[in-house]
Amino acid sequence: MQTGFDDDFLFGGAISSAQADGAYQQGGKGVDTQNLRYFNAGWTREQRDENRNINMTTLRFDTALSGLNTANYPFTHGIDFYNRYHDDLALMEEMGLKVFRTSIDWSRIFPNGDDNEPNMEGIQYYIKLFDECHQKNMKVFATILHYNIPVNLVTRYGGWKNRKLVDFYLKFVRVLFETIGERVDFWLPFNEINAGKFNPYNGVCLIKDQEKDYDSAIFQCLHHQFIANALTIRLAKEILPQAQIGGMIARFTTYPATCKPEDVLESIQTEQYSNYFYTDIMARGEYPSYMERYFKEKNIKIKKAPGDEKLLRENTVNFLSFSYYMSMVASTDRNWATSSGNLVTGNKNPYLKASDWGWQIDPVGLRITLNQLYDRYNIPLFIAENGLGAKDDLERDLSVHDSYRIDYLREHIQQMKEAVADGVKIIGYTMWGIIDIVSCGTIEMSKRYGVIYVDLDDEGKGSYQRYKKDSFYWYQKCIRTHGQDLD
Ligand code: BG6
Repeated sequence: MQTGFDDDFLFGGAISSAQADGAYQQGGKGVDTQNLRYFNAGWTREQRDENRNINMTTLRFDTALSGLNTANYPFTHGIDFYNRYHDDLALMEEMGLKVFRTSIDWSRIFPNGDDNEPNMEGIQYYIKLFDECHQKNMKVFATILHYNIPVNLVTRYGGWKNRKLVDFYLKFVRVLFETIGERVDFWLPFNEINAGKFNPYNGVCLIKDQEKDYDSAIFQCLHHQFIANALTIRLAKEILPQAQIGGMIARFTTYPATCKPEDVLESIQTEQYSNYFYTDIMARGEYPSYMERYFKEKNIKIKKAPGDEKLLRENTVNFLSFSYYMSMVASTDRNWATSSGNLVTGNKNPYLKASDWGWQIDPVGLRITLNQLYDRYNIPLFIAENGLGAKDDLERDLSVHDSYRIDYLREHIQQMKEAVADGVKIIGYTMWGIIDIVSCGTIEMSKRYGVIYVDLDDEGKGSYQRYKKDSFYWYQKCIRTHGQDLD
């Protein structure tokens, strides 16, 4: 029985281009879909939550396109990682990070998505960024697409609903494989591929009022993403045979509210529809039979092309990956108390405490998740995201005392260690938001995940200076001792 992490276990940190990079008018970048998400610093907590999963409309989209500014569109400035990555990576090196996960901004490589030639300045940026990671002894975990696509692919083609997006995406991937392929250790073609169902603008770039049959459109888009995922794997076999390519979901671990059989069934179906549908396709290579019934009952129609089934079957992922923030409860009782969460609102678990944003904190659920996924697929797992979004205070002496974050990380890493002892093969753990970034859901700066504090507020004001939080030193010690010393 293995009792601790191997020496080559990859402790790391993760961010995404849309939430961190900023510099939306630099380096030949095109406007992307996340740039257009509106935020108002005057919103109350409730308004921020309401706007978190709001559907994109034509009016919101066009208004943003004609009046993009840094004050109301925080994804235009991020934390200016694009201009500050050199110093940020130095801090990560100081922490001893073994792997760094970020995403590639499609609109830096192909500003309009359908351009004939790639933008060399964008490619150079990633060459420099990833070379610097390696110089600092960090492996690179690259997400090819973390929500943001060039807006032209929405205005001209209607987003992922259009199968042409698969070709544009593949062209983008080919350029990446040919130019930065050797610099990337792990690839994720899509961040949280199930997000398309739970936040269709983020995940599959749909504008709700432009769809006659929204649900069918969502699953059509998802089919195209599954095809793009399989084609990426096929392309890697041709030109980058050593590539490690993973599939990722936002994992909504779900427990039955009671032992009433109907609650247990509800929990199984929630797991199937929200989680396993996606991982079954990417790891087993076929649409699961329970979804055929679901599509029939919901009258969902998906157009598949000849050869799609074979393509999916022959091109499955090397590893599975997921984000894990909280767990949920399934109940047939429609009056069961509810609770907030990542991408979804679900039922409350009376045994768990929640974060200030209402996400139910469940470290044991991480061990459960790891066991469930490993049992089902028997391929290595990579925890691509886990962390605590909290409000932090920068003290006068420029310290940040975030003991609550240390507790969260300690308890989750402890459970990960238990899963290793259970025999689960885990490649690594990239804690989310290693440095404070703009929140993806609520688009605010005040929901912070980092072990590095960024001096920036919800209005986009601040010095952009970086400061080490108490959790920085804690994580540094955790990494140095291979997860042995978690005190
Ligand atoms: C994940 C996303 O779903 O959750 C990240 O991949 C996101 O982009 C993270 O930031 C945490 O969510 P939030 O809304 O707190 O930023």
